[in-house]
Amino acid sequence: MDHRYAFLTEWYDPTAALLRRYQLFYYPKDGSVEMFDVKNQRIFLRRTKYDHLHPEDLFVGNRVNVFSRQLNLIDYGDQYTANKLGSKKERTLAFIKPDVVTKIGDVLESIYASNLIVTKAKMTKLTWSQAADFYVEHQSKPFFNNLVQFVSSGPVVAMELMGDEAMSIWRRLLGPADSAVARKEAPQSVRAQFGTDGIKNVGHGSDSLAAAARELEFFFPSTIGIGPSNTAIYTDCTCCIIKPHAVSEGLTGKILNSISDAGFEISALQMFNVDRANAEEFYEVYKGVVIEYPSMVTELCSGPCMVLEIHGSNTPQSFREFCGPADPEIARHLRPTTLRALYGKDKVKNAVHCTDLPEDGVLEVQYFFKILDG
Ligand code: TYD
Ligand code: MG
Repeated sequence: MDHRYAFLTEWYDPTAALLRRYQLFYYPKDGSVEMFDVKNQRIFLRRTKYDHLHPEDLFVGNRVNVFSRQLNLIDYGDQYTANKLGSKKERTLAFIKPDVVTKIGDVLESIYASNLIVTKAKMTKLTWSQAADFYVEHQSKPFFNNLVQFVSSGPVVAMELMGDEAMSIWRRLLGPADSAVARKEAPQSVRAQFGTDGIKNVGHGSDSLAAAARELEFFFPSTIGIGPSNTAIYTDCTCCIIKPHAVSEGLTGKILNSISDAGFEISALQMFNVDRANAEEFYEVYKGVVIEYPSMVTELCSGPCMVLEIHGSNTPQSFREFCGPADPEIARHLRPTTLRALYGKDKVKNAVHCTDLPEDGVLEVQYFFKILDG
């Protein structure tokens, strides 16, 4: 028998309003998949070649899309799979400090280049006491007050990174805590490149698995609504969604860089896993108007997306022009420097959604940052 990876997965069936469980098998030899219905003990999907599932996406805690079904990988299905795919996978907390939030694109580029993926992200502004809680281990150090003062002085971006040895890889990417030392000892590190000194030093990385668990819980608590809040301001704004295909292709850093380089202010940023019902609701206005509506819905709920609030007067019009024509082929002919010309593939996988009508900007931003962020 071909060797295969096995997972236990859950799929929310919107028609029956039920969580259904399937075993998912993936055969690396020919990239085929097979699904088995656990409750009814029968084959649900016969072994079929499926090009859109990548082995690097197969780990517990991730969501993958198989023939338009978004499956949550909730456990390894056998010891072989757990040993092969699960042993070195770690999650760690990274956060980007206020000095370099505008360089978030560059930092993400280094993260993706190191084979780590970003599974959660949220821009937030910590209060003094939240920052003091976070750094409680340094409470008695002489630099404590300055450190807490600095990280609560402006927005930060907290992220969950995942990958083989994520914790040590991210700390190595950061480099030594003092940026001047980093420039001498690790000139390629992000602190060497973007840091100023010992306090303004780009970012934070958990230093043990226990710290990672505590720090992830701090920013992304399992009880919704109790973590640090997002930074959306809901005035003079437009909504931009970096679509799931672009996120999974590792284009997030490049797209954020393009947006910042063009002079737009990113006033809120967060990753969301949109389910089908919410995707349908968000795109409601396009239903029956745009023939791509069903595919747009499927794309939006096919994996994590990154949602931005872009702030500034006249932003809805100017940002929309910057995104370019909805069809990337047309964009590449007429407006070759637009986001869709640069990063889009086709009319559905066109890299970004942006608000169409200026008066909808606030509503679309609210949909994500007020309603879905709950
Ligand atoms: P530390 O945990 O030692 O470094 P790292 O961030 O690499 O885990 O210190 C936490 C933060 O405290 C560090 O990012 C910056 C600040 N700091 C100072 O300001 N002065 C210092 O002498 C040290 C050691 C840290
Ligand atoms: Mg530390």
